[in-house]
This record gives sequence, structure tokens and C-alpha cells, in this order.
Amino acid sequence: MFKILIINGPNINMLGKREKDIYGGHTLQEIQDSTKKVLSEYIDHLEIEWFQSNIEGEIINEIQKASSNNKLNGLVINPAAYTHTSVGIHDALKLMKVPVCEVHLSNTFQREDFRKERITSRSVNFALEGLGKNAYINGVLALWINREN
Ligand code: DQA
Repeated sequence: MFKILIINGPNINMLGKREKDIYGGHTLQEIQDSTKKVLSEYIDHLEIEWFQSNIEGEIINEIQKASSNNKLNGLVINPAAYTHTSVGIHDALKLMKVPVCEVHLSNTFQREDFRKERITSRSVNFALEGLGKNAYINGVLALWINREN
């Protein structure tokens, strides 16, 4: 079993409605469905759990819970706007004993200057930018390809 938790931060539940020119027209549910379908072609016995919250403390609680879940093989996280502001999420991610891959649908390096500060990225193993709706597929594959056993 390869068990992955995918955490999404604020406004990711609004995909399909928000800034479609930047994030594309797919809803989070559609992205979840295609992520599962595509990954099943590459990884046997994959189990993905999805969590989304607009609330910083709830994301921290979920990371803390994940850090003591010894069934988990890795964490994919899109902290969304909290990437650029949250010392709390940064500190919680330091608790993780399994690899963490941060993903962003957009390429934040090509965007506003306030997105250049990447607080949460400092406590992850891998970081992927600009892969749009395939961000989560690539995040899970990065964890799979770089797994230790
Ligand atoms: C994002 C990039 C962030 O800067 C932004 O605040 C988001 C989404 C992305 O997936 O491209 O909400 O994390």
C-alpha cells in the first residue's frame, strides 16, 4: 500500500470559479478524479486521502495528525496563499517524518512579488510549480519515484 495525504489550503475549493486564466477551468473534484485515474496507471495499491481547509489552524491540526500516522508514506501539500505567510504551517511541516512535496498549480515565480517569499517551501523535501491540474499527479509521482523502499 502506498498511502498519501493531499492537503489543500485556502480558495483551492474555488478552483473552476477563481481566476481561470491562472488556475484553469477544472473544479477540485474534477482534479481529484483525474489524479486518481491517472495515478492508478502508474502506482499499484495507491490510497489517497484529500483534505482542504480555508483555515490555517485546521491545516496545522491536519499536519500534526499526519505526523503521527505511521501508515502514511508521504504528504502532498498546496498551502495556497499560506505558502507566503504561514510560519505555523512551516513549523508543523517540520514534524513530518515522511517526505513532503509542495505543489502549486501556477508558477508563483512568474507572479507578483509578494509570492516570492515562500515560507512553507523551506520545510518540504520537493517543490513543484506551474503544472496546473496535473500538479497533484506530479506531486504523488515525485514521492513515489523518490521513495526509499
Ligand atoms: C497557489 C499559488 C498561491 O500563490 C496562491 O495564493 C494560491 C494558489 C497555486 O496553486 O498556484 O491560492 O498555491
